[in-house]
Amino acid sequence: MTNREAVTVIGLGAMGAKMAHTFLAAGHPTTVWNRTPGRGATLVAAGATEVATAAEAVAASTLIVISQLDYAAMNDSLQGVDLTGRVLVNLSSDSPDRLRQGSRWATEQGATLITAGIMVPPPGIGEPGSYSFFSGPQDVLEAHTGTLEALGRVDYVGTDPGLSMLYYQAMLNVIWSTLTSFFYSAALVGSAGVGIEQFRPYVATLLVELADEGPMGFLRSLAAEIEAGKYPGELNNLHMQAVGTEHLVQALTEAGLDTTFPGALSALFARTDADGHGQEGLSSVIESIRKPAA
Ligand SMILES: NC(=O)c1ccc[n+]([C@@H]2O[C@H](COP(=O)([O-])OP(=O)(O)OC[C@H]3O[C@@H](n4cnc5c(N)ncnc54)[C@H](OP(=O)(O)O)[C@@H]3O)[C@@H](O)[C@H]2O)c1
Repeated sequence: MTNREAVTVIGLGAMGAKMAHTFLAAGHPTTVWNRTPGRGATLVAAGATEVATAAEAVAASTLIVISQLDYAAMNDSLQGVDLTGRVLVNLSSDSPDRLRQGSRWATEQGATLITAGIMVPPPGIGEPGSYSFFSGPQDVLEAHTGTLEALGRVDYVGTDPGLSMLYYQAMLNVIWSTLTSFFYSAALVGSAGVGIEQFRPYVATLLVELADEGPMGFLRSLAAEIEAGKYPGELNNLHMQAVGTEHLVQALTEAGLDTTFPGALSALFARTDADGHGQEGLSSVIESIRKPAA
């Protein structure tokens, strides 16, 4: 017997299965359900209760943790199920507006939706450094924080149900674009026979320097410029950097490589330059991001 809160996990993909294992390991009575049957066997062996329908899964616990492909999956799974009094915590990815719609739908069903964006892959769930962004009604979240902390740190970011996903996607944007840039760079030096291990340490050092928390740190000073709306460019103006991105695209072309991603970067810099920011600094690019091309 345990006095830990009961949890239902809906969705037993890579993420949901690891979440259910993590709740079990933390001593929570755990009920699981997945659209396609047969994905709960190892969880049942570890002590979970697998049920045949979403209605049984929802009936088993007040706290329903959802990890599916997107929010449409939640609607598909829970359509017609009595959700009265349930707290749905959805850690699936989708757009902020779909999260807001999901929140309104849950309220109409007599339930409360807490939205979340989880910032680790399956092996990281429940490990040190794991965290998720949560948004929605704070008092409801706080009533279940002790349970949700089994998955990692609970970072509450605000009442608007779309906020957790805005934070999540803003982070994924940095992860995807930074790593894809690394792939382009590895291919570029690799085209001349340079091994990736010969090049990687330079990138590692650069990433640390970019993130330096000191007063001269790049990220910190660029953030301050954006906040002030002033983009000093005396030392390295944007026009020079826009021309530099053309050289990068040319280098990739000469090496017979794809130019999609650096080409898009070059087009963005060129538009910022053409809009009159050429003598300002790199951070002036945010002006073009805020004003999409017609
Ligand atoms: N994997 C990661 O590293 C990671 C990290 C952070 C966040 N996420 C997010 O976490 C969520 C789950 O990711 P995952 O890696 O676990 O994906 P996954 O392994 O592909 O699992 C997807 C799950 O969604 C279910 N599903 C899909 N469409 C459905 C529908 N219409 N109705 C009912 N169930 C449906 C699938 O059920 P069936 O088995 O029946 O197909 C399965 O349980 C995604 O939103 C993803 O973006 C993933």
